[in-house]
Amino acid sequence: MISLGITVEDHDGVRHVTLDRPDKKNALTVAMYAALADAIASAERDDIGALLFQARGTAFTAGNDLHDFLEQPPHGDDAPAFRFLQGLVRTDVPLIAAVRGPAVGIGTTMLLHCDLVFAAPSALFKVPFIDLGLVPEAASSVLLPRRIGRARAGAALFLGEPIDAQQAYADGLVTKLVADAELDETARAAARAVAAKPRQAVRETKRLMNHDREALIDAMARETKAFRERLVSDEARAAMSAFFDRARA
Ligand code: COA
Repeated sequence: MISLGITVEDHDGVRHVTLDRPDKKNALTVAMYAALADAIASAERDDIGALLFQARGTAFTAGNDLHDFLEQPPHGDDAPAFRFLQGLVRTDVPLIAAVRGPAVGIGTTMLLHCDLVFAAPSALFKVPFIDLGLVPEAASSVLLPRRIGRARAGAALFLGEPIDAQQAYADGLVTKLVADAELDETARAAARAVAAKPRQAVRETKRLMNHDREALIDAMARETKAFRERLVSDEARAAMSAFFDRARA
């Protein structure tokens, strides 16, 4: 199954979801979010044992497409971006990611919902929401300080400091650092291994680990309200336009 910018293929009980818009550093459009949301939502029904996020090109993802944010900011709760975020929290299918290059915004916050994260030395995690006049999403206002501590989350969020691969591993954001040439096969092998394990035990384990799922949904609802307000603010529109002005300069 192929849709613009996202490729979805099932093999050996593993759903391989590839961010496939390398010329734009895999920046996520509304159509890509819709494909991602569908890929997660249907995984349990399709008896998928593990879902692997991977990316083509030199970046994992540059985060939300900033043109889309300017021109068609997400509205209703059923907006594809929000459906994707809900899917990340609600699925009982283990989520695995292979990351090389920049993982910006949702590119980092989606990983907080992954069960295994493999990263190449080039991986660089950034959450520049404030610099864009925005607020954190994907429950990262709760999960990031919980995972890496309030002080380090402060550097990432308030100072916009990137977290490199080594630091991300030390911080517990990454399961394992892998040489670039081995990244894809390492992540695929892990996904196949998880998919081959007793399916119901895997899903029950994930449910137990996600016992605070409703609290995360509540956090996302708070964030979504603030995020929508921020998206149409003068601060955000100026910051996002500046990204494209810089590119043209
Ligand atoms: N939305 C839309 N287009 C984007 C984009 C985004 N988030 N990120 C990159 N692109 C586009 C660029 O405009 C450029 O397009 P062009 O070739 O038509 O000029 C192309 O992708 C390549 O980007 P470029 O910035 O030249 O690549 P780079 O390797 O120098 O830097 C990044 C890669 C990811 C570090 C940088 O593109 C970046 O910071 N992007 C914005 C990230 C962001 O703020 N995301 C929102 C988070 S909420």
